[in-house]
This record gives sequence, structure tokens and C-alpha cells, in this order.
Amino acid sequence: MASILFTNAHIATGERGTSASTAMLQDILVEDGTIAAIGKNLPDRLAADGYAIDRVGVIDLGGKLVCPPFCDTHLHLDYVFTSRIPGAENTTGTLFEGIQRWSETKATQTVEDVKARAKTAIEKELLHGVQFIRSHADVTDPNLTSLRALLELKEEMHDLVTIQIVSFPQEGMYSYVGPHGETGADLVEEGLRMGADCVGGIPHFEQCREFGARSIHTIVDLASRYDRLIDVHCDETDDPTSRYVELLAALASQAGIGPMTTASHTCSLGSADNAYFFHLKKLLKNAQLNFACAPTENLYLQGRQDTYPKRRGITRVKELTEEGINVSLGQDSMQDPWYPLGNGNMMLILDYLLHVAQMMSFTEIDDALQFLTINGATTLGMRDSYDLKQGNPANFIVLDASSVFEAVYERCPVIRSVRNGRTLFTRNETICKHYADQVIACPHDAPGIL
Ligand code: FE2
Repeated sequence: MASILFTNAHIATGERGTSASTAMLQDILVEDGTIAAIGKNLPDRLAADGYAIDRVGVIDLGGKLVCPPFCDTHLHLDYVFTSRIPGAENTTGTLFEGIQRWSETKATQTVEDVKARAKTAIEKELLHGVQFIRSHADVTDPNLTSLRALLELKEEMHDLVTIQIVSFPQEGMYSYVGPHGETGADLVEEGLRMGADCVGGIPHFEQCREFGARSIHTIVDLASRYDRLIDVHCDETDDPTSRYVELLAALASQAGIGPMTTASHTCSLGSADNAYFFHLKKLLKNAQLNFACAPTENLYLQGRQDTYPKRRGITRVKELTEEGINVSLGQDSMQDPWYPLGNGNMMLILDYLLHVAQMMSFTEIDDALQFLTINGATTLGMRDSYDLKQGNPANFIVLDASSVFEAVYERCPVIRSVRNGRTLFTRNETICKHYADQVIACPHDAPGIL
């Protein structure tokens, strides 16, 4: 692949407190899909070093905001676009009816069907700047249809997107028993043997507390034995006594895998009292646990047993962030039995988060991209190869804004996505011209994946 110089990038790293300090624009030299150099006045510096800069294709980014690609750290690709299939409609809007509706209809899906639906969802996310997705795959199915489909898709689409797959027992590790006596735990382990990246669980859905606690022990044990990451649907309930996150943090910490562990949802922390959280946060911080929040999904699903006042059902993102605990975001659903909307627009997910978590000081807004970028990469355990620095893959996106504040304020679209030095799409032909046959400009309002 030829060399490309991207010039005039307003780089927002996502690091807290850095968004306002990048007044001078920077340039990015890409060689063979890798960031060969990055910095200010790069053409002059390279020319001074004898680099044949005049032979490099140049793409002027026009001072637009550039950051690493967005991460969607919580998505169910096997469920997407199933909300309208017969029998799948969730009439109460609760999490538990969603699980019931899915349980009654999932046997009708095929590998080809899952792949086709998931591919459409991935393309939607790509066009919103996502290049890294953690998807759960329901393994409480004796045929493991979801997992087979997503493992194939992961390989087929790796040039466009990095997918992590969670071996996820949607109907429980010990509450689900299959037709041949296999438990959800058995199927989770089979999913790991087949190649899933993460161990999943759903302790608050298990039939009793003992099953929930047992599932957490099993999750940590499996992750240690198979050397995998952990992502648990944890305490996704308004019940403030659902406290599996403390057991998860304690066991993962003792096993030395806290930073490889994610607690998803943790809605119960939105209902727990402050005295409990005061004690808990020390454990969470020491364990270096990651959190994945799905603000739109849980705003819709939670509080369903409340009249008024009605709880928000969102975990304590502001307080966790202030403690230095990593929080990332997820779309969670696209038109499935749990949530009838969802289009992969992570800027919309961020917008909801800033509102519902009451995180709108100017500093919090300036730092907001961290939830979609570096925090996501930290959750995924990919931080080493993620940041925009020399030697890393040339993966980045361009937003139609000149500052993080403008991007958040205007809910700006992603107008270019670059992966391994290759432009996947552009949205605005005013900044995109043909350079060295590296880029194809798409008509305005007609984005497409190249
Ligand atoms: Fe989920």
C-alpha cells in the first residue's frame, strides 16, 4: 500500500483534559497501513530529514476533529432485527419478557439468517465510525447457532471491523438445562472451546441467589483456565439488593484478572444507597474492573415496576468516572425483543449518557469522547494497539466538527473512517478528493462502504 499523508487533523485523543490543548493541527503519515509518523508540521520535518514528501499522496482533513475509531463495547449481533418476527413482540417492555420472547423464537434462526442480520447491523455501526465491537452470542441453544454465525462473520469482516465475541448464557448458567441435560455453563465452556473471546454470564436472571453466585465463580474459573476476558450481564435490575458486581470484582481481583473483566449494565447501582456504594467503590477501583453502560436500552427497560417517582435504571457513570474507574458504552440492541430502535449511532448513545448521568460541565463535555474511544479500547483490552501513535495501525475517524464540544453539541456525523490506512467511506466530498487513487469520494448524503 502506498504512503498517504493526512494533513490538518485536529486530534482528540479522548484522554481526559487533552481536548482543549490541541489547538495546533497535526499531520499523520501512513505507510503500509501503519502510522509511520504523527505530529505538527510533519511535511516540513520529514522533508528536512530527506523524506520524499512530494511523492506521497496527500489528504487534507481541513482542521476537522480526528480520533481513534469508536468502540461499541456491548451489542447483541445475533438478536438484531428480530423484534418483528412472529411471537417476538415484547408487550411489557421489560428485560425479562424480552428474554422470554427470545427463548420462544430463537429456534427458528439459522446461521445464514444470523449472519445476514448481523452484517447489516455492523455496516450501520461502521457508517457511524465504529470499528471495534464486543458482541454477545447466546449459547443457551443446543445448536449454538448464534455463536457459529458470529465466529464466521468475525473472520469474514475483519478487514472492516474488529469483533470480540462473548460466550453468553442468555437463559442462565444453572437455570438453563438443554435437551440432553447440558447446562448453560457447559455451553459457555463449549463456546470458549470454539473460539469465543470472553466468558459471559447473567447472575441476576438465575433462579436463585445461590445459582447467581455459583455462576460468578464459574465465570472467573473459566476465564482463568481458558485465558479469556470476562463480560458479565451483571445486576441488570432495579433491585438494589442485586449485588453480584461485588463478588465479580472480588473474585476477579483475587485471580489477578480484574482489568480483563467487565461488568455490563449494573443498573442496580442506580438504586443502591450511597453507604453501600461508598464501600463498594474501593473494591471496584482496586480490582480495576471495567464497566459497560447501555444508556438508551436501560432507560427503556428499567423502572418498569415503578410508578412515580420512576428510577432511571442507569449505573453510576459520573461517580465511577470521578473515581477513575473505566466506563465505556454500548448500543446493546437494534430492533430486538428488548429494544425496538437502535441504529448504531454511538454519538447518540453518548448524548443520552451525558444527559442521564448529568455530566455536562464544560470539562465533562470536552472529555466526553473518552467513553467511545479510549475507555472502550480499555474495556476490550486493546489499548496497546489502539491509540494514534507511531507504529500502531492507522485506524481513525474524522468528525464534521472542529472541537469535541462542537461534535457533542451538534451531534456531528462521522465523515470519514480509515482502517489500516484504507478509507472505508467518506461522507462529505468537499474535504475528500482523489489522491493517488487511494480514496473514492462518495456523494454527499450517500455514504457507502468501499
Ligand atoms: Fe446486553
